[in-house]
Amino acid sequence: MAAKKVLIVLGSPRKNGNSTALAKQAAEGAEASGAICETICLHEMHIKPCNACDHCQTRPGHACILKDDMQKLYPKLVKADAIVMAGPVYWFTVSAQIKLFMDRWYALIGKNGHALKGKKIGIILTYGDVDPFAAGAVNAIRTYQDAFRFIGAPIIGMVYGTGNEPGEVRKDKKLMQQAFELGKKLGK
Ligand SMILES: Cc1cc2nc3c(=O)[nH]c(=O)nc-3n(C[C@H](O)[C@H](O)[C@H](O)COP(=O)(O)O)c2cc1C
Repeated sequence: MAAKKVLIVLGSPRKNGNSTALAKQAAEGAEASGAICETICLHEMHIKPCNACDHCQTRPGHACILKDDMQKLYPKLVKADAIVMAGPVYWFTVSAQIKLFMDRWYALIGKNGHALKGKKIGIILTYGDVDPFAAGAVNAIRTYQDAFRFIGAPIIGMVYGTGNEPGEVRKDKKLMQQAFELGKKLGK
């Protein structure tokens, strides 16, 4: 059987941050299952906000006309067997980097459903508060749940926890192991 392709999406601006540390664990887990991983860092990419022109929904071919880095990200998303969405909680929900990226998935809605339908999804989320409710992590989780329910892509697992200083989450061995196990599941 061909190796599974796992796309790891980093939604934090911090290269050595907490969600990225957990995402690396997930990548190692996926590779341990024989998968091929590719990591993309949204903060380094030029992604415009959806302008609601509806070109993708009203013209044959259903392509997004915005000329930016999403044009190379669309094929990566479509080819992936599994996608890990990793990022921090910013202002009680997902980071702006993740929101811009997901808004552009509007262009992947087609006649036969969404192009990401059936892909396995993993969620990684870090936040400063010790309580996921006070942190607003629940809002981010709800956003992912609603979006992937709409798309028809099953969320295989979620790994979320607290960290403030960059990489602090590495001290939480249980959380790091959870991220590794999530990657293992996604890579199978
Ligand atoms: C702009 C900004 C907004 C933040 N908003 C929240 C928040 O609403 N709730 C929270 O618990 N932590 C918040 N934090 C803290 C981060 O979520 C936390 O440090 C997280 O671990 C960062 O993940 P990263 O290291 O992957 O970037 C915020 C941090 C920044 C810089």
